[in-house]
Amino acid sequence: MLPNTLFMGQQLFFLPVCESTNSEAQQLLIKNKATEGCVVLTDEQTRGRGQRGNSWEAAPGKNITLSVILSPVFLAVRHQFYLNMAVSLAVLDLLREQGLEQAQVKWPNDLYFEDKKLGGILIENTVTSHSLQHSIVGIGLNVNQLHFGIGTATSLAAVVGTQLDVKRLVARLLELLEKRYLELRSGKVDKLKYEYLRALYRYQEPHDYQVGQEKVRGCIMGVDEDGRLALEVAGELHYFAFKEVAYII
Ligand code: BTN
Repeated sequence: MLPNTLFMGQQLFFLPVCESTNSEAQQLLIKNKATEGCVVLTDEQTRGRGQRGNSWEAAPGKNITLSVILSPVFLAVRHQFYLNMAVSLAVLDLLREQGLEQAQVKWPNDLYFEDKKLGGILIENTVTSHSLQHSIVGIGLNVNQLHFGIGTATSLAAVVGTQLDVKRLVARLLELLEKRYLELRSGKVDKLKYEYLRALYRYQEPHDYQVGQEKVRGCIMGVDEDGRLALEVAGELHYFAFKEVAYII
């Protein structure tokens, strides 16, 4: 099913099985075979990659597993987190359209529903001295899978109670992604940031976090220009990069 887009997903490679769609997308870039918006879609990854060097596991044929190649050359390296915001919001738009009004984004870009993870995003950028050159945006979204190895995962079907059409959802996701990406490209960063914060899991609520060996109680107050999490702990604001803080859920 082709998406109704200008460029997102108009070039699409479907691989029944592959190691990782992000790695396949990387190969397409190296071989100069990809135009902006090119998508690599698969039913099954044998070495799916997640953030923090984790693996990404998903039951074959039941979920959304894809990578999109973008060229956000208009984005300064120091503003690269705005791409994470735009992509997170696009996936969130899809979830909300499917009736998951309460879905949220867990910083930096996990999709959550009631303390459970629905999906994740792995963005790999290549940069020049000033701006982004290419971004490989990998999206894994649990759609029809009902059984998970870990208790903290869930899926759209588990929440809504019916199986969904994965192909139709992929097409819709690409439409929503193009819309958000065009907002980013036209400089609507304040809008994106506002919506991202409004959708942020645990925003302005006191919760426990792991910082090194220490457990701290803190309140998320925002995200800075570099994408660091602003956490208020004992009345003081601290900024954490991705690997420096973990949520205790
Ligand atoms: C995370 O939550 O840690 C990010 C998960 C990202 C998974 C997707 S699935 C498609 C793409 N290919 C990969 O190898 N990873 C991403």
